[in-house]
Amino acid sequence: MLIYNAKQLLTLAGGPQRGKHLGELGLIPDGAVLVRDGLIKAVGTTPELLERYPHEKRFDAESRVVMPGFVDPHTHLIFIGNRAFEFEMRLEGRSYQEIMAAGGGILNTVRLTRDASLDELVNAARPRVQGMLQHGTTTAEAKTGYGLEESSELLQLQAILKLDEEGPLELVPTYLAAHAIPLEYKLNPQGYTDLLVEEMLPGVLLWWQRNVPQRPLPFVDVFCEVGAFSFEQSQQILRKAKELGFPLKIHADEFENLSGASLAARMGAVSADHLVKSSSADIQALGISDTVAVSLTPTPFGLGHTEYAPAKKILAANGLLAIASDLNPGTAWCESMQFVIALSCRYLKITVAQAIAAATINAAAAIGRADRIGSLEIGKQADILVLSVDDYRNLGYKFGGNQVWRVMKRGKWVVENQR
Ligand code: NIG
Ligand code: FE
Repeated sequence: MLIYNAKQLLTLAGGPQRGKHLGELGLIPDGAVLVRDGLIKAVGTTPELLERYPHEKRFDAESRVVMPGFVDPHTHLIFIGNRAFEFEMRLEGRSYQEIMAAGGGILNTVRLTRDASLDELVNAARPRVQGMLQHGTTTAEAKTGYGLEESSELLQLQAILKLDEEGPLELVPTYLAAHAIPLEYKLNPQGYTDLLVEEMLPGVLLWWQRNVPQRPLPFVDVFCEVGAFSFEQSQQILRKAKELGFPLKIHADEFENLSGASLAARMGAVSADHLVKSSSADIQALGISDTVAVSLTPTPFGLGHTEYAPAKKILAANGLLAIASDLNPGTAWCESMQFVIALSCRYLKITVAQAIAAATINAAAAIGRADRIGSLEIGKQADILVLSVDDYRNLGYKFGGNQVWRVMKRGKWVVENQR
């Protein structure tokens, strides 16, 4: 299949983009891309590729933008229920942390999610997966974290694997049993941390090796925050996870600075996410590391806060910046990376080109998949969007709707939206 006549073909070629390089779109005017066997076989201009591949089946992009599928590197996709009542409480003046300290927040979702069956988990998440795909996300990370006990955390992991097998949206799993202190351990957070380190993490490893040995290990993530896991507890969990061979992620500096981002950089975590309260030392540490700094821009927005991740400072320190939805029932129920781009341009003060790179190639790096997805380059997976617009800048400019016309996943058209 030859996709031709792209007014702007955004290749994002050349690998993850650090610091001042963020936003190099690799734009080819009147571009074309050749897809065979689910992979990209050639990239160039329309006249070039039409001449080289005259007998290929063709798709006319009708002078629109063609670009890589969005990668959403941080979601809490697997949950039951809805916390609209907490949204209302927050609008009336209660804070997220207050609600959390009173046993609500994440624990409210745990109450609903813990006893769900595998089918219930999968059926609840499926419409969200559909929504993401229709808005152009072709790969997403997905976390457990609403079980907080061995069996239900494992079931949530299985739900992620099952949805990934169903496709076409590709899911990359993360084990987040360290998302909150479960009610049973309210007075003994260290007890839950020890359980995680001594039993739950080795348990997941064993389960993985027995059941899906062919798949790369999931990420292990920790919510390092006052009221969740302390710096020391986060360090203890991440150390154990690393020792067992798991790649690492962290929720750091969302509400208070606990130096979680520095910890992530020091431990070689693949990403550090949130970063709203990250200090200069944290930013410097990220800047000299390969840990991707992920802004979950919809989260402060969803909470009605005015402070966002210090993206410009992260870029000035030569950091790797990505953006993600943080899709979750508490702070940010957002299925659209197009909306994440629109918010990020405004609140992180980055250009549309920078936001696009942060949502594709750098987002792929944030889940350790930049070798396969996130750009249109020979040998990469054919995860491709055709937009309904002819100028990529519309992505940040217009918001609230859907500017994706068609979605291709691994070489197959999987979405055709109205234009
Ligand atoms: O990334 N901060 C921790 N976890 C989520 C919120 C989850 C929830 O409230 O259910 C986040 O914002
Ligand atoms: Fe999160």
